[in-house]
Amino acid sequence: METNLARQLLEETNDFEGARYLVDVEGMSSAKICSFLNALVARMDDEEHYLEIGTWRGRTLLSAAYQNRGRTCFACDKFRILGRWTGWGFKAKRQLMRNIERYRKQCANVRFFHMTSRRFFRAGLIPGPIGVYFYDGDHGYRLTRHGIVSAAPLLSRRSVLLVDDWNGEIVRRATRDGIRDAGLKILWEREFEGDRTAGGWWNGLGVFYVEQGRGWPAGSEGRTRA
Ligand SMILES: C[S@@+](CC[C@H](N)C(=O)[O-])C[C@H]1O[C@@H](n2cnc3c(N)ncnc32)[C@H](O)[C@@H]1O
Repeated sequence: METNLARQLLEETNDFEGARYLVDVEGMSSAKICSFLNALVARMDDEEHYLEIGTWRGRTLLSAAYQNRGRTCFACDKFRILGRWTGWGFKAKRQLMRNIERYRKQCANVRFFHMTSRRFFRAGLIPGPIGVYFYDGDHGYRLTRHGIVSAAPLLSRRSVLLVDDWNGEIVRRATRDGIRDAGLKILWEREFEGDRTAGGWWNGLGVFYVEQGRGWPAGSEGRTRA
């Protein structure tokens, strides 16, 4: 993604003022975030993919995929047995699969993997560069940092990285440490404080336009992409 689409879209829409939900899916994200993801996927380069960690019932995943046929959206969720905010994992998974099916004809190709983010990254399931990466999984320090460091080699030379729950100090620190440790260069960034309302930025969002400069996948000779 050689153009900073994040900045472009935020400027064009006045930070997604008046955004509306695109899909009718229960979830923990605002209309602004859902519309932002959707527009980024619509405009990313042809060979690029979307990746999301932490789907719950699929609100953000299906928003990213909505009306974006021809794209592929990869995602994983571990579905806790019983989460404080997320309820029963088996119910969330059942609802996610129903929602994916319900929107299948209007959406990008969705490839969902029921596994932890650690296992997902170890398994090497991504066949091409990620242009838009949304991290909304475990919000502790170790897994957030891991989610950034492990995804870095899969990113396009330049890509947009979005991290949810940016209001949390641990999330911010883990993300910035991850970016540094992965050798990503921040070309541009915005921080949105969330006011915990559906009309705002939910619990905050960190947005980065980053460069990894190693080609895809990292270290592969002769496969550096423009
Ligand atoms: C805040 S919810 C995601 C909300 C979702 N993006 C939406 O649109 O409503 C966080 C999700 O991350 C998942 N999660 C937590 N730890 C994880 C891990 N280690 N690997 C994968 N998913 C994880 C949880 O099961 C939960 O469904």
